[in-house]
Amino acid sequence: MKNNNQHSLDFGDITSKLDKINVNKGLLITFEGGEGVGKSTQATLLYHQLEKYGIDCIKTQEPGGSVLGNNIRKWVKSSGSISALSETLLFEAARSQIMTEIISPALRQNKVVIVDRFIDSTISYQGFGHGLDVEIINQLNKIASKNVIPNLTILLDIEPEIALSRVSNQTDLFTEEDDNKRVDSENQRKFEQKPLEFHKKVREGYLSLSKNEKRWFLINAEQKSDVIAKLILDRTKELLLKNGVEKTRLED
Ligand SMILES: Nc1ncnc2c1ncn2[C@@H]1O[C@H](COP(=O)(O)OP(=O)(O)OP(=O)(O)O)[C@@H](O)[C@H]1O
Ligand SMILES: [Mg+2]
Repeated sequence: MKNNNQHSLDFGDITSKLDKINVNKGLLITFEGGEGVGKSTQATLLYHQLEKYGIDCIKTQEPGGSVLGNNIRKWVKSSGSISALSETLLFEAARSQIMTEIISPALRQNKVVIVDRFIDSTISYQGFGHGLDVEIINQLNKIASKNVIPNLTILLDIEPEIALSRVSNQTDLFTEEDDNKRVDSENQRKFEQKPLEFHKKVREGYLSLSKNEKRWFLINAEQKSDVIAKLILDRTKELLLKNGVEKTRLED
């Protein structure tokens, strides 16, 4: 398998810090960006690094993360034609479930919750990408997310051409029957097969959202994985320090 992931962080022995500490209140960190920008790579790196520090944290992803969410993910990916509104409502249903089952309980237990895609994906994809009214999506997002807004949203930004070539480079994920279609564990891909124009709109959507609120951290995702991981870790440390974690706990 071709693997461009060049991270070199040493995660050490995570079992040595079994006495997990809690931050003063739960913190929600979300990863956003188009297909193949490195969200899952970076979410995983951050999760392991926080575990190494002994921070009580979980990592999950949308629209999976719950049984319902995983089923919805499969349905959406396998449905040939689906309206933007239907797609949105299904994703919001998955969101509502993951909030109830996983995210809200973890936040109540003062955990750091890392989520690979959240409310901003729906605004960028179904709103900016498909042209659905962003105000309607905002309302649905509020309902499904129980008004929870991320404390930090990491936007990995890169030209779609580059990001899509990264995922299409994953030759082990090509089907034998059709080598134009990358498959994932559910055997279907959906959004990455859309025209480049769609991905450009999604990117512009994300960039405009990132200008609106302080919670956004915009990163040039063309950089090497380890460089990006360091930027994300530094920003996360700032957030943790502000929320009562002692500096000595965050030393390598
Ligand atoms: N900074 C980077 N430079 C080069 N390649 C990278 C970088 N980060 C991740 N990759 C590679 O790009 C591919 C996509 O990465 P990843 O799966 O993390 O992206 P993603 O944003 O989660 O994608 P998707 O939208 O499909 O879930 C993987 O092969 C990964 O190893
Ligand atoms: Mg991913």
